[in-house]
Amino acid sequence: MCGIVGYLGKRDAVEVVLDALKRLEYRGYDSAGIGVISNGKLKVVKTKGKIRDLATVVKEHDFKSNIAIGHTRWATHGKPTDVNAHPHVCEGIAVVHNGIIENYMELKEFLVNKGYSFESQTDTEVIAALIKDNYEGSLFEAVINACKNLVGSFAIAVICEMEPDVIVGYRKESPLVLGVGDSEYFLASDIPALLPYTNKIVPLEDGDCLLITREGFTISNNGDLVNRDIMTISWSPVLAEKTGYKHFMQKEIFEQPRAVADTIHGIYSFDENRFYLVESEFEERLKGVNRIVAVACGTSYHACLVGRYWLERYALLPVEVDIASEFRYRDIFIDDKTLAIFVSQSGETADTLAALKMSKKRGALTLAICNVMGSSIAREAHDVIYTHAGPEIGVASTKAFTTQMAVLYAFSLYLGSLKGHLNNKDVSSRFTELMKTPRLIEEALELDKKLLELALKYLDKKDFLYLGRYLSYPIALEGALKLKEISYIHAEGYPAGEMKHGPIALIDKEMPVVVVAPVDRVYEKVKGNIEEVKARDGIVIAFTSEGSEEISKKCDHTFYLPKTYEDLSPFVYVVPLQLFAYHVAERKGLDVDQPRNLAKAVTVE
Ligand code: F6R
Repeated sequence: MCGIVGYLGKRDAVEVVLDALKRLEYRGYDSAGIGVISNGKLKVVKTKGKIRDLATVVKEHDFKSNIAIGHTRWATHGKPTDVNAHPHVCEGIAVVHNGIIENYMELKEFLVNKGYSFESQTDTEVIAALIKDNYEGSLFEAVINACKNLVGSFAIAVICEMEPDVIVGYRKESPLVLGVGDSEYFLASDIPALLPYTNKIVPLEDGDCLLITREGFTISNNGDLVNRDIMTISWSPVLAEKTGYKHFMQKEIFEQPRAVADTIHGIYSFDENRFYLVESEFEERLKGVNRIVAVACGTSYHACLVGRYWLERYALLPVEVDIASEFRYRDIFIDDKTLAIFVSQSGETADTLAALKMSKKRGALTLAICNVMGSSIAREAHDVIYTHAGPEIGVASTKAFTTQMAVLYAFSLYLGSLKGHLNNKDVSSRFTELMKTPRLIEEALELDKKLLELALKYLDKKDFLYLGRYLSYPIALEGALKLKEISYIHAEGYPAGEMKHGPIALIDKEMPVVVVAPVDRVYEKVKGNIEEVKARDGIVIAFTSEGSEEISKKCDHTFYLPKTYEDLSPFVYVVPLQLFAYHVAERKGLDVDQPRNLAKAVTVE
């Protein structure tokens, strides 16, 4: 996915922008570029390939500048070539852009008729020309007027030769944040790009046009000057470094004990028997809620599936879970007694955001569970509970998942007590169990070496089946998703009891079947499912609770995990599945952190 950065201050702007672009590499890209004002002239360097290729070319120019914009491009309109890379320039104006301009063909025709010519196949070049066409001495005004004509979702950063001390940014449905330093300003599409420079962030809102000058910044929205709060982000720069791990994904798997502990820290007071999760106004409305919908995409959707069991069990409310891209087009019944929960690591997933807006419009009380402060979903919902995973850089989500589950579990207890279904003793004993999960995850991580051996044995397999029941069914789905997205091996997650209704036909002596089998209310049933796989010569790889050794007689490989309070097994059982997927992909020599065709935040529909 594309990345934007910008800098205006006293430092070497080229150095800052190249460094910040490097921090966006995890998003995946195919070309990169930088635009600077050097000795009063606009200079642009761009190239297909990696940031290091760009840095080599930039070095030859020896620019002296302390204002620059930069971009990593992930091709949508036009192939990944030098010409299509950003910035795009029109008569002294340079633009970098994330997102898609839906009406760029008609705008191009309009501009061609006015005498403008274009050399790339991108929609971005049209923006540069349109800004030029609106330019009457103020870049800020020109950007505002040009953007009125753009249809689509986009974020842009613009500099121009005529105003050498100005950067203008504009955001519409694609993330853009301002970083505030000491007499210096930064612009980025993602917070991790800025962490070494500042933790003071202003997330722009839809329709915001940002003017950065050496004296300060101004934001205008729809003709009015607006004030936006400066947020202090608690993420430390080191959280966005690999710190000795080979990949971010590996680091993030191992960070889970810390991430879960940080997420649940301070949200429940044993002394007061109360949760600190939502605002009091939200709590008032929550009292009247009589049904819940939980909506998300990908891994976050799997967290919702786990959360459903807890919400049903503790809050005794009907709970429906759906994938955001489906949910948003359904004629689903929603009213003001519906609580709609939206779970998103990035807080920018386009379908989840659209589903949230749709639910709000129909009167639902909306709650976001997000990892990125000030993100669109966090801002749009009536209230937000943050996960404290820290920046998740690996494209495959790991620590976001366990922290989302931690919030969903705590929220289920909270709602259960609010609705009068759980007394203080129930809540405090269950929350105490939740507090043990960081240590249990640590124990699960000790299986790492054994899982590497397992990965070496099976990395050439073409298909995997993942089975689980009850709370372990979403974990089977998540395990299969992890394997397929980073190792490109076909893997399917299935409810174990549903196997006889189709997938059992796939099983033969070549098929590894991963079974998530904690000792819980469905354990005996799952043992029966294992027998069914073995009867068809399938290879069974089972994950079960310490002490249940008898299962190993039926399985080809058995891994033992620490016993948990029954409801909390997902925290522990997802860990070996993440590690297994990681080792398979790593040993296959694949790009674990940036798997092909995937983006960390899917900001387009
Ligand atoms: C899978 C993965 C994706 C995301 C999905 C939702 O490892 O990372 O499936 O979970 O794109 O993203 P967020 O949570 O940012 O809304």
